[in-house]
Amino acid sequence: MQIDPGQLLDDGFVILKNVVPPERLDELRASFETLVDRQQANWARDPDDPGCFAYAAKQPRLAFQTVIDAATANTVEFCLHEHTLGVSRQALGTRDVGLKQMILLCNPETAYGPDLWHRDVSHGPTNNAPLAGLQADMLANGPSSVQWNIPLYDDDVLWVVPGSHRRLNTARENQELLNDPRAKLSDCRQVRLKAGDGVIYINTILHWPSNYSTRLRRIIHLRYTSFGGQLYPYGSRFLWEPGFVKHLSPEGQAGFRRFIELAEREDDRIEAFYRAILDQDPEAFRQALALLHPGQTGRMVCVVLLSKLARRIGALKRPELANLPERERASAVGEQTFSIGNLEALARRFTPAETKLLGQRFAPLDSRLQTETEHFVPSLASKPSRWAQEHMPADFDLDDFIASWSQAA
Ligand SMILES: [Fe+2]
Repeated sequence: MQIDPGQLLDDGFVILKNVVPPERLDELRASFETLVDRQQANWARDPDDPGCFAYAAKQPRLAFQTVIDAATANTVEFCLHEHTLGVSRQALGTRDVGLKQMILLCNPETAYGPDLWHRDVSHGPTNNAPLAGLQADMLANGPSSVQWNIPLYDDDVLWVVPGSHRRLNTARENQELLNDPRAKLSDCRQVRLKAGDGVIYINTILHWPSNYSTRLRRIIHLRYTSFGGQLYPYGSRFLWEPGFVKHLSPEGQAGFRRFIELAEREDDRIEAFYRAILDQDPEAFRQALALLHPGQTGRMVCVVLLSKLARRIGALKRPELANLPERERASAVGEQTFSIGNLEALARRFTPAETKLLGQRFAPLDSRLQTETEHFVPSLASKPSRWAQEHMPADFDLDDFIASWSQAA
């Protein structure tokens, strides 16, 4: 199966036929249904079971890797298929690709109707660089991640605005979204998928879940991130931990071992980056940054993303969290229970004093990432915020960041 990476970059999405090979559709439907039944039994016993992020809500989501066994391992192994991982590698232009997230999106039990138009990037103290920065980084260096919807039954819920991943909202879009954020926008397009087809997309695209109805919906929803491209991916940390890997075939286990190696190599680089900042060593900082973000253009976006990651680590190091159960620690820092171990592994590389000092070093950048008054951008946030959502700090480059370390110390 081939994808045209240029089409993905131009339009922000590409529809592919028979991503699930037709002869495998029944088998995958049966396995996923077994997992839905298993998770529903878990939820009935414990509504906070970590396999769920929103069972009672408009769009139940099943972190299906948490409930597989050997008989249903084909669900996870499908994420390593040439049509999923293989096509994602083509789209990202590197073999060094990791699977960030695998979930099954399901229909609700009662009809909810249309949801909000949005882009899959939230902005705040612990998330993401401003959208125009992410977009400029992508245009200079290529996409850093791709997302998939692969329905097991015909599906036409998703709408997109082609090309909107390359730009901010237009004034007209903002007006339309302020009028009704749940209605059709001008120039949008419905994504009509037959069972087993897939849409691969860049998730900064403006998109709309147009109808959460009770019609049977089973969407394999995947996200792959690049570990070998020219840029550092936003939201790169894996939303799974490897407990389930023992159920996979030897080839499947090898595939996930490779993902873990890639993530550990990246954590080594992130540690070197933070240590250079702690040591106030500009040369080591520039070297570490060049490994994380080889492309010359857009390195400040990487710095912003890592400043936000440092905040999440700092939050996790708070002494009052140390003795809480995992579920409560995860909830206190806005992480998922079934993946908080990934963030904790990085956090363990630093002492509380180091994470505190790191926070101080990033403080001048943090203040540049906030506006004087709250502002609201439809599709990017649910409420007004002071955190910059659209624009990178003006007149603040790598040299300014390096100079700011001593101001903060
Ligand atoms: Fe979305």
